[in-house]
Amino acid sequence: MYVKEIVLENFRNYNEENLKFDKRGSFLCGRNGCGKTNLLESVYILAYGKSFRTVNPEEMIMLSKDFFRIKGFFNGEYKKKIEFRFSKGIKKILINDVEISSMKELIGNIALILLTLNDINLITGEPAMRRRFLNSLLSLLFHDYLVDLLDYRRVLRQRNKILYLKKIGKRNNTQGIDGWTDELIQIGSRIIEKRLSIMSDLNRSASFYYTLFTPQKDKFSIEYLPSFQIKENIEKCFRESLSKGREKELEKGITFTGPHRDELLITINELPVRKFASEGEQRTCAISLKIAQASFLKSKRKDDPILLIDEAVVELDRVRREKVLNSITDIGQCFIATTSCEKMDNMPSLKVIDIENEKSE
Ligand SMILES: Nc1ncnc2c1ncn2[C@@H]1O[C@H](COP(=O)(O)OP(=O)(O)OP(=O)(O)O)[C@@H](O)[C@H]1O
Ligand SMILES: [Mg+2]
Repeated sequence: MYVKEIVLENFRNYNEENLKFDKRGSFLCGRNGCGKTNLLESVYILAYGKSFRTVNPEEMIMLSKDFFRIKGFFNGEYKKKIEFRFSKGIKKILINDVEISSMKELIGNIALILLTLNDINLITGEPAMRRRFLNSLLSLLFHDYLVDLLDYRRVLRQRNKILYLKKIGKRNNTQGIDGWTDELIQIGSRIIEKRLSIMSDLNRSASFYYTLFTPQKDKFSIEYLPSFQIKENIEKCFRESLSKGREKELEKGITFTGPHRDELLITINELPVRKFASEGEQRTCAISLKIAQASFLKSKRKDDPILLIDEAVVELDRVRREKVLNSITDIGQCFIATTSCEKMDNMPSLKVIDIENEKSE
């Protein structure tokens, strides 16, 4: 899929704007504060139904206005129009003019990957960041995975509530917990199985990009670390780990094992990058993972992904930057936001959009 046109109304610093793009994408250039990230954010919202910068849509309404609207026209395997409106505290999402009732109907329509300088958190941040990475990839690949993930969260909340109420003495038993435990095991095992099923392809792809971007021949590896030992049958092992940990669960009031506690171990030459790698290596790892994610989506879905790159590659040295940009433009439509368009000489021949001049004030 690719974005053919974006129409913005009262969105952040865009009053009324209509921007057209070609299939390969563009460099979005202009001074600090001219609206490059805002534009990327608007495309992201059409894919995920929420921003990557704020959980509060009010902030995105142009100052002194009382609503905003983003409309996107997408082309590819099929044509699609997606619209996001926010007014009086209520958001509405329409696909081909029909309002959807659940986020599940939106996610997966547009395979979109965002690269920003914050991606380094994917390496240095908490395990939740790496689980989010896997969840986002798998949700764009398998609709069932997204459904399981949302169900798992609901079941986990219910199960934890019983444990917590027992812990603080508001309940004197854990009646009803067995039903939640059974559901948790069933859904959780499917989630783990799906995650494990992509690990070797993901590892191959991320290693390929890491090696492409680095001059030395370092050995990159990514591995799934479950929160309990998996021998053969996942469900059986999950159940065993929950019953073994019951005493601790009651003491702390939460569920300690399951896909919500699993982790990805990323290493270079067998050393965990989170602790040992330099900042440049960590950045390169994060970029390699994100590009592997996009390339994975391209190979497994019928449509090409859209890549939004917000300054993420500008920090890299020239050789790496060139390699990264050439790789991503092969994958799908790319939008590369940067203040330093002059640094992009000799880079892939994408159209340059000067956001400052394009924007009607
Ligand atoms: N709700 C809003 N109403 C009006 N203006 C807003 C709103 N939210 C943000 N802005 C303005 O949008 C401007 C552009 O922001 P944006 O983050 O897109 O800039 P940018 O081009 O990415 O800059 P940089 O190069 O520094 O990253 C900022 O000056 C900000 O004040
Ligand atoms: Mg910006």
